[in-house]
Amino acid sequence: MADPTAPTAPTAPTAPAGSGGDAETPLLEIRGLRMDYPIRHGMFGRHIGTVRAVTGVDLTIRPGETLGLVGESGCGKTTLGRCIVRTLRPTAGTIRYHARDGRVVDLAALGQRELRRYQREVRLVFQDPFSSLNPRMTLLEIIGDPLRNNGLAQGKELERRVGEMLELVGLPPGYMRRYPHAFSGGERQRVNIARALIMRPRLVVADEPVSALDVSVRASILNLLRDLQEELDLTYLFISHDLSVVENICDRVAVMYLGNIVELAGTDALYRGPRHPYTEALLSAVPRADPRLRGSGRRIRLSDDLPDPAAPPPGCAFHTRCHYAKAETCAAPGAGPVLLPPPDPSGRGGTAAGPAATPHLAACHFAGDLSLTGV
Ligand SMILES: Nc1ncnc2c1ncn2[C@@H]1O[C@H](COP(=O)(O)OP(=O)(O)OP(=O)(O)O)[C@@H](O)[C@H]1O
Ligand code: SF4
Ligand SMILES: [Mg+2]
Repeated sequence: MADPTAPTAPTAPTAPAGSGGDAETPLLEIRGLRMDYPIRHGMFGRHIGTVRAVTGVDLTIRPGETLGLVGESGCGKTTLGRCIVRTLRPTAGTIRYHARDGRVVDLAALGQRELRRYQREVRLVFQDPFSSLNPRMTLLEIIGDPLRNNGLAQGKELERRVGEMLELVGLPPGYMRRYPHAFSGGERQRVNIARALIMRPRLVVADEPVSALDVSVRASILNLLRDLQEELDLTYLFISHDLSVVENICDRVAVMYLGNIVELAGTDALYRGPRHPYTEALLSAVPRADPRLRGSGRRIRLSDDLPDPAAPPPGCAFHTRCHYAKAETCAAPGAGPVLLPPPDPSGRGGTAAGPAATPHLAACHFAGDLSLTGV
């Protein structure tokens, strides 16, 4: 079991990336990513078990897209996001990042010095705009710190760049001498976004960026994220449990269950024609104001709470709650179904979005047979 705070492994081998920015070349390729947390007990912190928070994720992020990551609380979304920005060191797996300098580096294996360089390009926007800003620092310090710490700007130049960034996120540059308590939730989230963008990243992991905000300001922050994406050529991994928001903002969606991706598809394909029973259950709970958009209207209630990630069920991890489970197949000991395109003679699953086709993948033994209801 790896200690997430342990020193990192030596620098990974790197190779020329060829073209780092065209739509055919992925920005990030995650393979076999695992993150285990040790469960400790007692005064001496005896190791008594392991939470398998991420259990072997394969996921590719394309340049310029917004990829949604959804799933119930505790399924491992934040852990996956924090492995990508490398505030956590994964237990196993690779995160191949096609960097701005044309190299392909394995973020999962980089040593601290190399990591600092590439962490500028992959940034995190936190969920909670209240607790994530130090109340004793001015906006100039909060937003400018990464530039100063990396020796990239100081003095007047630092002020100029922070002022520019404040303007970009819709705040007056004159605010830079103020402290976070002077601001509303929406304004603080703009500060959070400015802090993430000051290093001019290419990939932003936005972890529930609007869920702590009043409904009335959510739309303005989502619009800001969309505008910034266009202006700064950003790619987003957008983590959320709000499927309505995800439907509006994401090009593709990955559904996570108990540490792994169980379905991945273009947003429209996934919402209209889910291929995994878990996705169908999540979608059945999405509120629809317009009755014509409510699908069958049948709410699928999941039978039980999320299983304990320290003791995941054998076979398909969803079989303890799945309405379609067949015990002999789905609960068979060993590994469960893997993420694959279901056999589909009608070609119903895939959608074309942009230059690369978007295959519709599902990790269910019966994905090709079930007729599931979307929204
Ligand atoms: N530092 C930690 N130590 C031990 N277990 C942890 C730690 N952080 C998270 N976990 C566990 O790992 C699993 C995944 O947690 P994670 O926070 O990644 O889920 P999430 O999908 O982001 O949930 P939420 O929607 O509530 O934010 C959970 O079982 C959680 O309790
Ligand atoms: S493999 Fe079986 S238990 Fe798992 S989602 Fe498919 S039908 Fe349900
Ligand atoms: Mg989370």
